Amino acid sequence: MSNQLATATAILEALNVSRIFRTPRGPLPILHQVNLSLRPGEFVALRGRSGSGKTTLLNILGGLDDPTEGRVSVVGQPLESLGDRARAALRREQIGLLFQNAHLFPSLTARENIEIPLRLQHLNSKEREERSKEVLHLVGLSERAEHRSLELSGGEQQRVALARALVHRPRILLADEPTGNLDSQTSLKIMQLFRMVVQQTNIALLIATHDAAVYNQADRVITIQDGHLLYS
Ligand SMILES: Nc1ncnc2c1ncn2[C@@H]1O[C@H](COP(=O)(O)OP(=O)(O)OP(=O)(O)O)[C@@H](O)[C@H]1O
Ligand SMILES: [Mg+2]
Repeated sequence: MSNQLATATAILEALNVSRIFRTPRGPLPILHQVNLSLRPGEFVALRGRSGSGKTTLLNILGGLDDPTEGRVSVVGQPLESLGDRARAALRREQIGLLFQNAHLFPSLTARENIEIPLRLQHLNSKEREERSKEVLHLVGLSERAEHRSLELSGGEQQRVALARALVHRPRILLADEPTGNLDSQTSLKIMQLFRMVVQQTNIALLIATHDAAVYNQADRVITIQDGHLLYS
């Protein structure tokens, strides 16, 4: 019953996903028939040792890579059934991505960095300003809007990256070790911020991490080991 319920309300689903990389030394299996389902308003941590396949799985869930077998559905739509354009549009609209490095343009201000995805969507300057204000407020950086990125601390830069990942109002956020470069105090603060963002926006959040601070904030912790997902 609970499985059916999970399937009914899932916003991101992986069904029997396997990934085998081709290498000069032969096939390298990393994921074996993995099943995962994320619901709106859920904060899930994905942990596993280095090389266990966390990034591989996030890339497949985010549509950046294809599974060797199995399928991924975003908002109920199987990615495999879509052409390249529709798939890219679905990914752009529904998914936000966050990485270990903030990847900001150093000479642009926090606000300008955040507005980049909105420029790509051709929103006018008034709409861009409203949206960027809203997410800067959400991440607690209203005061730093006009600071150039290189003038911001590591934690502040990651907040800007989070604001940029949220500004197009995605329903899913995939984060790959977003606190990997931060000290433990800052990392804890960012995690509390994630918790708050999930509550306020009802987004589904999946974070790959080695950081124990994340596990405490998450609703569920999933471990990836030998290509399988272990649910605790
Ligand atoms: N394109 C590729 N071709 C061949 N092997 C790959 C490719 N991408 C990843 N791998 C291998 O797959 C394994 C899983 O890599 P992945 O990056 O998913 O690990 P991870 O759990 O994210 O590790 P970390 O915690 O260090 O980030 C690694 O052994 C890696 O070398
Ligand atoms: Mg990784």
